[in-house]
Order: sequence, then C-alpha cells, then structure tokens
Amino acid sequence: MLGRSKKNSLFEKGLLVLSVSFGIAVISVIMNGKTLMPVNTGILPSAIIPALALTVSLVFVLKARKHGRKGLMKSWIIMGSSTDGLREATKLLVSFLKRRSLGTRNAFYLLHVIRNGEEHVQLCAPGNTGSLIEEFLSSLKPEIEYKPGKPADCPGEKDAARANIHGDVATREAVDAGEHNAELAGKDSVLIGCTYEGSPVYIAKKDFFRHVGVFGSTGSGKTTTCSIIASRLAGIGVRVVVLDWHGEYPGLLPPMVTNVLRPVSMQMSINPFAIGDRESLVDILVDVFDLTLPQASLLSRVLRENEDLPTLQKLLEATMNNEDNGGWNREIKLAIARRMEPLLSREGTVLFSIKNSFALPEKGSVLVIDLSDISSNRLRKLYSLMYLRLIYAEAIKKSPLETVVIIDEAHNILPKTEVNFIAKMLAEVRKMMLGLVISTQSPSSINPEYLKNLNTKIVHRVVNGADKRVLVESLGGPGKLSSLLSSLRVGDAIISLPDSPKPQLVKITSVCGGQG
Ligand SMILES: Nc1ncnc2c1ncn2[C@@H]1O[C@H](COP(=O)(O)OP(=O)(O)O)[C@@H](O)[C@H]1O
Ligand SMILES: [Mg+2]
Repeated sequence: MLGRSKKNSLFEKGLLVLSVSFGIAVISVIMNGKTLMPVNTGILPSAIIPALALTVSLVFVLKARKHGRKGLMKSWIIMGSSTDGLREATKLLVSFLKRRSLGTRNAFYLLHVIRNGEEHVQLCAPGNTGSLIEEFLSSLKPEIEYKPGKPADCPGEKDAARANIHGDVATREAVDAGEHNAELAGKDSVLIGCTYEGSPVYIAKKDFFRHVGVFGSTGSGKTTTCSIIASRLAGIGVRVVVLDWHGEYPGLLPPMVTNVLRPVSMQMSINPFAIGDRESLVDILVDVFDLTLPQASLLSRVLRENEDLPTLQKLLEATMNNEDNGGWNREIKLAIARRMEPLLSREGTVLFSIKNSFALPEKGSVLVIDLSDISSNRLRKLYSLMYLRLIYAEAIKKSPLETVVIIDEAHNILPKTEVNFIAKMLAEVRKMMLGLVISTQSPSSINPEYLKNLNTKIVHRVVNGADKRVLVESLGGPGKLSSLLSSLRVGDAIISLPDSPKPQLVKITSVCGGQG
C-alpha cells in the first residue's frame, strides 16, 4: 500500500510540473514574446524552453501512468451492522458485479479490512462505474452502510489485472465455499485462512488423514502455512511430528505445545532394527546412498543371511566380511563401503546406534525434528525416512494413531523411487489415522504416485513451468489457473478440498476476522 501512495504522488507531481511549466511558458510568451529564463534566446529560440518542459513533464506522467493509475479506481468502505449482514451484503455485491460483467470486463477488487477492531469490506472498482455501484450500494440500505474510501489504497494497474482473476476465482465460488465450509468450525477442523470476502476457510481433521500437499516456490509461504496447520492441529488434540529440514519451526510454533528434537546434539539415536519388519530397509538405503542394482541385491542377501544384525553399521560390516569374492563381488563391496561411508562418521554413529530413542509426541503437541542439526544431507534424509518408517510401524500396532507428519522440503526427503512403506502409508493410512502433509517447492520432482494420494492441495505462488503444469493438472482447474498461480501474493494460496468442487483463493492466516 505504501508503494501505491508513492506511485500516486509521482503521478500528482507529474501533473503539477506539467501544468506549472505550461502556465509559465504561456504567460512568458504572452508577456515578453520569449521565456522568463535568462537563456540566450539567440541560441535557444523561446519556443524550445516550454517544449522541453512539456517533454520532461510528459515523461514523468507516462512513467507514473505505467506504474499506477490514480483516478481510474474508486473505493468504498462497506460496513455491516453484523458480520453476517456484511457477508450477505458482500455476496449481493459480488453477484451484482458479476451480473454487470464488472468482474470480467473491468477489474474490481474486494479487500477484507479490519479498522478499530471492526470488520469492513473495501471495494475498489473503476471510476467510470462509480455511479452504478453507488446506486447499488444505496439500494442495500439499511442493511449496510458505505462511505467513500481512499483510492490510494486500491491496487495498481498490474495488481488490478490480477484482481480481475481474483474476481473470477475468489468471488462467487469462494463465498459459497466459505459458507458451506463455515459449519466445520469447531473441534473437528482447523482454520487455515479466509477468503478475500472475509469468510473463514477450514480443513476438516479427517481430511488430514487423507493427506495434504502444500506447494509453492521458495518464499511463497509454505512453511508459514505448515506451522499454522501444526499448531492448529495440536490445538484440537492431534499429535504432530514436523520433519523440519531447515530448522525453521521452533521459531514459528507456540513453545507451550512444542518439543524440539535435535538429533545430533541431543544424541537422539534411532535404530532401524528396533522393529522386526525389515521391509523397505534396503529400498531406503538404495535411495539415500544411490546404490546400484547389484549393490542392492548384495545388501539384501547379507540382510537375509544375518537375521540378528543389531545396527546399520553392523550390516555394513557384515557386507564387507561377506566371503563371496567371486565375479564382481569384491568391487561391489568396495563400492558399497564408499557410498555408505557417512554411516561410519561421528554423526552417523550418533544417529544410528543400538539405542532407539524413537517416541511419538503426546496428543495435542508438536514434536519438531530439527534436521538442520545434521550436517550431512544424506544422513538427514536417512534419519527422516527411518523415523517415518518407525511411525508407520507404530501406526500398524496402535491404530488409530491420530498423528499428522509434516514433511517440509519433501523433495529432499521422499525417495525418488517408489518405496513400499511410503506408498502403503499414503494409500492405507486413513483407517490408521496417520496423515502426511507434504510440502515442497518442486512437485514435479516428487513421484506422481505419491502426489496422486494427496486429497487436499494448498498451492501458493508457483513460477516454475514444469511445477505449474503438474499442479494445474492435479487441481483440475481451468487454464487461467496457471497465470493466477504465478501472480499470487505471499501467503495467498489456491486451496482444493476433497469435498469442494472448485478450488478457492484463500489468504492463509491464523486469525480470520476475529475467528481465532
Ligand atoms: N500467510 C502469511 N501471512 C503473512 N506473511 C507470510 C505468510 N506466509 C509467508 N509469509 C512471510 O513470507 C516469508 C516466506 O515465508 P515462508 O513460509 O518461509 O515461505 P516458504 O516456506 O514457501 O519458503 C516469511 O517472511 C513469512 O513471514
Ligand atoms: Mg519453507
């Protein structure tokens, strides 16, 4: 908004300079037949000075026009006697704007504003539609009141083009969705944000157990969205585990409900052999350490032949001591040793020892696993996947688990190849009540089989073409969604809910018009 006022004042200055210089030029020519300035008129004919002044002012004005368009937008602040009244009026207003095609031919913009603790809606619309809109607004009386707002608060030309798209996605559909969604308020849902009309938007608790995808380029708001989800879920009694790749969540979550696990500095070793089920163990090692097929089959063989191996390091040792040196086996063993070397580093031995400190958080609390505490990216990934595998084993034992695992920067963690337990986790866990929130800037690098199982999608601004294509397809939305995705503001997202037919535009926030 500050940027806008600056652009407007630039425009005003341009106009002022233009009129003053034009005035001076005219007066000087009338009075003296030449300019007032002490210029050698022999070199510069008198007409050149006003012409120069005019050109400079024109450049100023054109520059200002390019960046903003004061005078084209008018604004009204609309106040309702109650939140319901205001919402009702907003709906009428939106359908009026749509009926008059003001939403598609001309940009209009609805902003939800809170002033002095009161909810208002601010409408920005093209100035030439002003009398039509005022007529409509006065016809709504006495339900609502309105007064002229400051045009300086209206979006600029670039924003207005976007507001137009907002108009299409976020108006009728969003108001409807906000309405039927509002009944979710309460213990079995979390508030995720509000529509541009001010309606709260909820995600039902059960939908988290059908998995959620959070997408968007770096800086678009994914981590903030996930942290809101985490604290809201804890608030309704769900256990939450966050795999925090960059160590950002401790600063974003309420300390009262948050425990932070720093695997290396707190020596929180986990032991993948603590559970009898060996399924997926080799698949995970293959993915994390980029093992080849022969390397994988040797590891599998050693694992089969040594059922009582206590740790990953002992698995490596048993592989090296395998007596079969025929064929390429010697080279294969050496290659495995080279690739899996991080397991034998100090970090490796602290993270994966015989001690198993794995534990789930209490109901209604968040356990943040601060992966930035681990310096090796491969070990970060291995720790995360082994932790997930232990959670899955727990879910099989203790279903329903009522646990949601948030995987931030999931492209760094989820295996490229299909690993059995993750595919099962995504396909089967509904009854176990184990939900995944998969957050990534790069959905195109996530296995499409995994993406298919994410039933709720929260899509922030996306700029990369390949990622946009994947997302537009998975949202099943119209082609224009693509341009909307690249123009979303930080914290705004298109949300597609499993039971809602159309995606809607939502401002992600932990408080929506007083509904906290
Ligand atoms: N919903 C929001 N409301 C206000 N600010 C936000 C919102 N989402 C993100 N931001 C701000 O934008 C910046 C980047 O957000 P972040 O969540 O870290 O993005 P990402 O995880 O996609 O890189 C942060 O400074 C954050 O405070
Ligand atoms: Mg992030």
